[in-house]
Amino acid sequence: MKRIAILTGGGDCPGLNPAIRGAVLQASALGYECVGVLDGWKGMIEGKTRPLAAADVEELVGTGGTALGTSRTNPYKKEGGTQKVLENFQRLGLDALVAMGGEDTLGVANKLHKDFKANVIGVPKTMDNDLNATDYTFGFDTAATIAVDAAERLRDTGRSHKRVMVLEVMGRHAGWVALFTGIASGADYVCLPERPVDVKDMTAKLRAAHARKGVGLVVASEAVDIPGEKKEEKLDEFGHMILKERGVAERLSEIIQRETGIETRSAVIGHIQRGGPPTLFDRMLGTRVGVKAAQLVHDGKFGQMVAQKGDQIVGVSLQDAVGELKTVNKDWLALLDTLVGATGARTKEPAGTR
Ligand code: F6P
Repeated sequence: MKRIAILTGGGDCPGLNPAIRGAVLQASALGYECVGVLDGWKGMIEGKTRPLAAADVEELVGTGGTALGTSRTNPYKKEGGTQKVLENFQRLGLDALVAMGGEDTLGVANKLHKDFKANVIGVPKTMDNDLNATDYTFGFDTAATIAVDAAERLRDTGRSHKRVMVLEVMGRHAGWVALFTGIASGADYVCLPERPVDVKDMTAKLRAAHARKGVGLVVASEAVDIPGEKKEEKLDEFGHMILKERGVAERLSEIIQRETGIETRSAVIGHIQRGGPPTLFDRMLGTRVGVKAAQLVHDGKFGQMVAQKGDQIVGVSLQDAVGELKTVNKDWLALLDTLVGATGARTKEPAGTR
C-alpha cells in the first residue's frame, strides 16, 4: 500500500483540521495509507509521526488548531536538516508528502522538490492571506470574522465613553486582515503595512468622526510603519521581522490622544484570531484543498500547490506561490479610501429611516 505523509507548518490557523480530514478521506478512498508528521518540518527532521486513518479525522471538520502540531523550523537552517528530512522520507516508506503551510513551509517544500526531486504537494494556509497563486487561503476568513466582532465590541464601549478605540490585528507584512476588518466593521481609519501611517490625515478623520458620532474606531495591522519610529531589526529563522513587543495599537493610541485631545484606548486581539472553530468558508475551503492535495498525489503532480481560482480548486506550480508575498494592491487601497474615513457631515435624516 502506498503511503502519504501530511504535515502542518508555521502559524496554525482555523481550517487546518478540515484540510487534514479532506486529504486523509480522499487518500483513503484512493487506496493510500496516511501518516501525520508531528510539528511541521521539525517532525520530518526527527522522524516523528502518528497514524492517520479515516477514523482519526472523522470529527476534525469543526475544530480549530492543527491535530498534528506545528513549528517554525526550517530544515535548510539546521545542520544536516534537509539530509535528515530525506532520510526519514525513505525510512518511513513514504511515496509522497503533503505540506500544509504558508510561504515559509511551502518555500521549503518547493526547494526540496527543486533540489532533490522530492515528491511533495503544497496546501496553502495562512490567516494572513498573503500567498500568491491562490485567491484565498483558509484561516483568513475566520481571523477577519473574529476581528470584525472585536472591532464592533470596541466601538460599543468607545461610544459609551466618547473615546477613540484602536484595534490591532495580525497579518505580518500584508494588510488583508486589517483591510477586510476595517471595511466590514465600518472603521473610521485603517492602518496597513503597505503604506506609512499619515498621522495628520488619521487624526483629522478621527476628530471629524468623533464630532459626528462621539466615537472613533481605528483598525491597525501589526506591522504598520509609523513615520519617525525606528524599524525593528530582529529576524526569525525564515528571515521575518520579529514584531515589537509594545504593539502598534498602543503606540498609535498615544499619538491619537496627544494630537486630538480625545481619550483613546487600544486593544490587541493577537492569537485569539487563530483559535476556535473555522467559519463555514474555511471549513469548505480547507476540505476542498485537502481533497485536491490527495488527488494531485494520485496524479503524480509533484511540485504543485493546490489553489483556489474563482470557484475552482486547481493545481499550480509551488514556485508561483512562494518568493513574493501577495500584499494589498492599489485597487484595494482605492476602495478603502472611498469607504473609510471619507464621510462628510450628517444629513438631518440618517439613510435608511424612510
Ligand atoms: O503568519 C501568521 C501569523 O499569525 C502572523 O499574522 C503573525 O505575525 C505571526 O503569525 C505570529 O506568530 P507567532 O504565532 O509565532 O507568535
